Amino acid sequence: MSVEKRFKERYKTEDTPWDIGKPDFNLTETLTQKPIKSCKALDIGCGTGDNSVWLAKKHFQVTGTDISEIAIEKAREKASKSDVRCAFLVIDFLRNQIEGAPFGFVFDRGCFHSFDSGEERKRFAENVAACLEKNGLWLSLIGNADERRQGPGPPQRTASDIVVAVEPYFEILSLTSSHFSSNRPDPPKCWVCLMQKRDDE
Ligand SMILES: C[S@@+](CC[C@H](N)C(=O)[O-])C[C@H]1O[C@@H](n2cnc3c(N)ncnc32)[C@H](O)[C@@H]1O
Repeated sequence: MSVEKRFKERYKTEDTPWDIGKPDFNLTETLTQKPIKSCKALDIGCGTGDNSVWLAKKHFQVTGTDISEIAIEKAREKASKSDVRCAFLVIDFLRNQIEGAPFGFVFDRGCFHSFDSGEERKRFAENVAACLEKNGLWLSLIGNADERRQGPGPPQRTASDIVVAVEPYFEILSLTSSHFSSNRPDPPKCWVCLMQKRDDE
């Protein structure tokens, strides 16, 4: 089953452990440590929108995109309840153009890492670069292969999986080991990767 079909199915059956009802602390801390001026922001694979809504509250003009209609419907409800404006679009990021580009800041939590093939991850990175303005930033939260967890959990990628996919298009500003915000007692490890679009891209 393709990544996209798998996710649609998981939202249908409510098998969505990543959906924790709050923004990930790796996003909120990164933007506290490295303040980014409010700008147009894109949340790729936004799920039910907690990170998008947080960004909108911080005065970013947010577009959230996801392959799942169910997730986008819930994201719209959350934005409305929080009284913030976000544009939420059902879109396959690997195949469709994104309305509203170029963006100054792109965020993804667990979307880039979903693709098993290096070729797809490279295409994902190329598409992110194409949506960003000059010097635009991408913050990606990625399952970490140093976890070595058996059983269910996020996909696990090595640092070199990330570097190979993103380096042609991005300068890596920082790549640090952390853990996802989680409702589990043992939160899964992640990479926090902050990148800047290359000048020649
Ligand atoms: C692990 S979930 C994380 C969701 C959200 N970022 C969060 O933190 O709650 C990954 C998300 O990526 C979405 N996704 C997977 N493939 C996609 C694609 N090709 N285009 C857009 N979204 C996609 C899934 O539907 C899912 O909502």
